[in-house]
Amino acid sequence: MSIRHFLTLSDLTSQEAIQIIKRATELKQLHKSRTIHESLKNRVLGMIFEKSSTRTRVSFEAGMTQLGGSAIFLSPRDTQLGRGEPIEDSARVLSQMVDAVMIRTFEHEKITKFAQYSSVPVINALTDDYHPCQLLADVQAYTEARGDIKGKTVTWIGDGNNMCNSYINAAMLFDFKLNIACPTGYEPMQSLLDEAGDRVTVTSSVEEATQGAHLVTTDVWASMGQEEETKIRMAAFKDYQVSPTLMDIADKEAVFLHCLPAHRGEEVSEDMLDDPRSVVFEQAGNRLHAQKALLEFLILN
Ligand code: CP
Ligand code: NVA
Repeated sequence: MSIRHFLTLSDLTSQEAIQIIKRATELKQLHKSRTIHESLKNRVLGMIFEKSSTRTRVSFEAGMTQLGGSAIFLSPRDTQLGRGEPIEDSARVLSQMVDAVMIRTFEHEKITKFAQYSSVPVINALTDDYHPCQLLADVQAYTEARGDIKGKTVTWIGDGNNMCNSYINAAMLFDFKLNIACPTGYEPMQSLLDEAGDRVTVTSSVEEATQGAHLVTTDVWASMGQEEETKIRMAAFKDYQVSPTLMDIADKEAVFLHCLPAHRGEEVSEDMLDDPRSVVFEQAGNRLHAQKALLEFLILN
């Protein structure tokens, strides 16, 4: 079998993605019932983090331990990667020692290059352009809360960033409609919009995008690596906040998701995360289960 990487959601077929979500829910039940399930015994995951993380690091590390394997945290501060060792050399070396490599970095091209030289699966744990692991947890959270996401309407409010790009991929993979509301100049990747066709709409009106939505989601106004643009972004996004009042124009069964960390008073009102329509903490918890399902799929392939 050839190696499977997970650099964007489009590395999976729809059938595989649906199966991973189903498996994630099964693994969640096993975890909740404290059943020991060591499908990745003695397997090792290398974890390269060039940006900060709470959820991603802990979910991958705990997930590997629970599946009977282990994970090694690699930061550029104390590896040769941070001292300029070429990506292609690091990939050829590390992939002889571990069973999969997870990478969180800046330029998406870095992980495509790593994958090109890796003899084991490479997982995108966030780049400037995509955050596909998060989408597995998001779809799992919606499915568990309200059932199949196929045919539903999802609303993205705010920056056309890595999360938004991954929502466009998810709309194609899981067959839902996506309305994006963003200020001019902050649209998601045009090539993805072209690929998605009329399944995805882009508007500058938050209300227009939210009308009748089954799922409303957003993310920070300034992502990691954009700290210097914070002031200008605060002004550009000031009308792009999700609040319980905005949720009132969505479908009456609508749920709210946020990949976290959230900035209360910015992209979400102070009270949004605690609103009964918010399932953000279930969503965050699902990172563990969705990635365990992904690891099984890639490593046992
Ligand atoms: N949502 C997410 O990826 O969180 P972390 O940055 O904490 O990993
Ligand atoms: N868009 C955010 C997501 C963090 C999980 C960032 O890239 O910083």
